[in-house]
Amino acid sequence: MKRLLIIMAAGVWFASCSTVSSKEKEGLSQAEKIERGKYLVTISGCHDCHTPKLFGSKGPVLDSNRLLSGYREGSPLPPYDSTIAKSGWALMGMEGTSMVSPLGVSYAANITSDETGIGSWSFEQFKKAFTKGKFKGLDNARPLLPPMPWENYAHMAEVDVESIFLYLKSTTPVRNVVPAAKIQ
Ligand code: HEC
Repeated sequence: MKRLLIIMAAGVWFASCSTVSSKEKEGLSQAEKIERGKYLVTISGCHDCHTPKLFGSKGPVLDSNRLLSGYREGSPLPPYDSTIAKSGWALMGMEGTSMVSPLGVSYAANITSDETGIGSWSFEQFKKAFTKGKFKGLDNARPLLPPMPWENYAHMAEVDVESIFLYLKSTTPVRNVVPAAKIQ
């Protein structure tokens, strides 16, 4: 009985902690949101596609001079081969920043704070692109192509979307104009 009470008390304590912590998140300072945004960007895979890779003896590593700057301007464009389109295969570029699929060719966007990235974007624009899959976050824009997994982020808490946005706005600006997607 005593043990049961202890377990129940621990449960109540734990439940109250988790409510407190979500309330605390709402009240995060700007600096805390930026820190949280960095953490979320790190664990939710943004670098997999938005950061070009360098190839060393241990395999691909993030290019630390180009973090989150998308498909490298000037690097050879992957060919759009109609046999790929018809075969039903999708191929990803070696650096992880481009994909050729039956839908066309997509290039990961520059999401650094540079003006060629999201430097001049508003939060509303970012939210629409990131959680609703609208190119540049504009209402009548085309849907974002795969492999941008925006559906995964559609249900993200507002405070987390804002934290990611504030972090991206605080990143080192990397000037890099990503080519336009080829839509089939
Ligand atoms: C599996 C690959 C992949 C992952 C993971 C990924 N993205 Fe993307 N993202 C892309 C591609 C490719 C595009 C460009 C799609 C297009 O042009 O249609 C894109 C586009 C975007 C856009 C829209 C840019 C624009 O100009 O409209 C934003 C914003 C964005 N990504 C943010 C993020 C963030 C933040 C994360 C991590 C939480 C993330 N992405 C994770 C591949 C990815």
